[in-house]
Amino acid sequence: MQFTRDEIIEILNDDSKNDWLFTLADKVRHDYVGDEVHLRGLIEFSNVCKRQCKYCGLRSENKVIDRYRIEPSDIIKYAENAVKMGYKTIVLQSGEDEYYSVDKICEIIKGIKALDVALTLSIGEKSYDEYKAFKDTGADRYLIRIETTDRNLYKAMHPNMDIDNRFRCLEDIKTLGYEVGTGSLVGLPNQTIEALADDILFFKKLGADMVGIGPFIPHPQTPLADADTGNFEIALKVMALTRLILPEINIPATTAMETLNANGRIIALKSGANVVMPNVTTTEYRAKYEIYPNKICINENPEQCRNCIGAKIKSIGRTISQNYGKSRHFRSKQ
Ligand code: 5AD
Ligand code: FES
Repeated sequence: MQFTRDEIIEILNDDSKNDWLFTLADKVRHDYVGDEVHLRGLIEFSNVCKRQCKYCGLRSENKVIDRYRIEPSDIIKYAENAVKMGYKTIVLQSGEDEYYSVDKICEIIKGIKALDVALTLSIGEKSYDEYKAFKDTGADRYLIRIETTDRNLYKAMHPNMDIDNRFRCLEDIKTLGYEVGTGSLVGLPNQTIEALADDILFFKKLGADMVGIGPFIPHPQTPLADADTGNFEIALKVMALTRLILPEINIPATTAMETLNANGRIIALKSGANVVMPNVTTTEYRAKYEIYPNKICINENPEQCRNCIGAKIKSIGRTISQNYGKSRHFRSKQ
């Protein structure tokens, strides 16, 4: 569907239209990408980060957090276990941690691609040559949220970073033939409704294959400790509008949604989402990957999460996909 910027702003401002929006997004999801939910096995392999994003608990200036790194051979073991459980996509995510050289990442890619799964990387800003090396070694998808397209807000939230480099990363990833994942935070301090509308229009302009939207949740060990928590409904509305405007893409029901609402992922799956990314590492790492507080599933093991989310998905009449879950938007381009 086509919406002007003014129409998007009007829908975001008018809560009397929420039920219409969520029901329509659910229908568009059903009509374009079907009832299958794609599960991605998420491996948060390092919480070491060189950046200072104001909202993120992994920021380098957080001296309280207990840092960890999982060695390549153990990362591959977690992936093997996930594949045995039926996962068809593995997502590797970390802080921006230079310990993992291009060679190390390529070693991990090779090990995981030998398991016959799709592989998504979410390891931050890299050079074109690095993205190319990962792609040539077998990575299929790359996820890097733009976080916000509002230049001033981006600058305020990301010391020593440059939004134009972030745009460059996304263009490079697209040029290299990755499936492109991006997304944004909803409810950052001083973020306007207009800025959220621009984020949605950016996803379209970029031609994203996957878009993840999550509410901002203040972390006590960050400069935004006392900021207001993002609004669940507004995040859900941004997600639903993204589905209407980009009907063929993959949209995850994000963990942050469930942190704010005990049924958040299921509500998201009924409002336009078609992907869930359960954690497939063991409990020793989960609590330490504390991007924001009160993350769900920190005491569960991979099998418990798989069973829990599997049952929830079935309870709403949806099925779990048995294929790689390539985005229909991406397939349409090929
Ligand atoms: N609240 C919600 N989401 C956050 N992220 C980082 N910090 C927070 C926070 N405090 C999100 C960012 C990042 C993703 C991995 O986690 O959007 O891209
Ligand atoms: Fe982890 Fe429900 S998905 S416990």
